[in-house]
Amino acid sequence: MDLKLQEVTHRYGDRDVLRDVTLDIPTGRITCIVGPSGCGKSTLLRLLGGLERPTHGDVVQVGSPPEGCLNALTYIFQDFALLPWRTVAGNVALVLEDHRLGARQAQIIADVLERTRLTDFASALPKQLSGGMKQRVAIARALAVNPAVMLMDEPLSALDSQTRELLMDDLVGLWTRTPFTAVYVTHNLAEAVRLGHRIVVLSRRPGQISEIVEIDAPLPERRHGDAALDAQQAYLWGLMRDEAAAADAELVHV
Ligand SMILES: Nc1ncnc2c1ncn2[C@@H]1O[C@H](COP(=O)(O)OP(=O)(O)OP(=O)(O)O)[C@@H](O)[C@H]1O
Ligand SMILES: [Mg+2]
Repeated sequence: MDLKLQEVTHRYGDRDVLRDVTLDIPTGRITCIVGPSGCGKSTLLRLLGGLERPTHGDVVQVGSPPEGCLNALTYIFQDFALLPWRTVAGNVALVLEDHRLGARQAQIIADVLERTRLTDFASALPKQLSGGMKQRVAIARALAVNPAVMLMDEPLSALDSQTRELLMDDLVGLWTRTPFTAVYVTHNLAEAVRLGHRIVVLSRRPGQISEIVEIDAPLPERRHGDAALDAQQAYLWGLMRDEAAAADAELVHV
């Protein structure tokens, strides 16, 4: 299933938040969205997920979701959004229970816990888990519905830098074994160059696409501290620096 934004402009009150954004989300790839604070990144995800309708323009889904898909568009947020009274397996089950899957439900849970290396923690409660593990549960829960597109809003922002590195490795491993389609919003350019097949740079509000950078290096070959990635990151920062400074100054006066 292809997801597209066509000439999307979005407005809250009399303020344009996104302006004339046309973007295709390629299947089986990770599309990162970067841009200064308040430029409309989360709004863009909500529009893609159908949580809001754009003021102008269209969000288009072309084709069918993958086989076995229970929810075409699923979100992963930075705060994990787990139910504290449910176990790891119970939190994953939450998104499956309405689908009357019978014995398949347990199979799906076992499969996604295995893929996210959580099998041994199936009976643990969220309070017993580290932040990184909690986010792995949220990822397992998203994978359980076999979505067409995962919409990830700063999924690693609440984690410390070492845990973030480990989670990036996990995401690379997951994608390498079974490629998924994701739109990955981050303000962290190191994450964008590690995980993005393409990186969409938005200007400050109203967010417009200022550049799309494709990174060809295969995900497993991208290493922390790699000179080529550092150069890509420096290039992206060059594109964003002035906009970020202007956005920062603007927010102070809001
Ligand atoms: N429901 C809403 N009603 C009114 N204004 C909103 C609403 N949601 C977002 N905004 C405004 O729209 C702008 C873009 O918000 P959005 O959250 O999409 O930006 P962002 O790029 O995700 O920001 P951040 O980097 O802080 O996560 C901001 O100025 C925000 O205050
Ligand atoms: Mg945001």
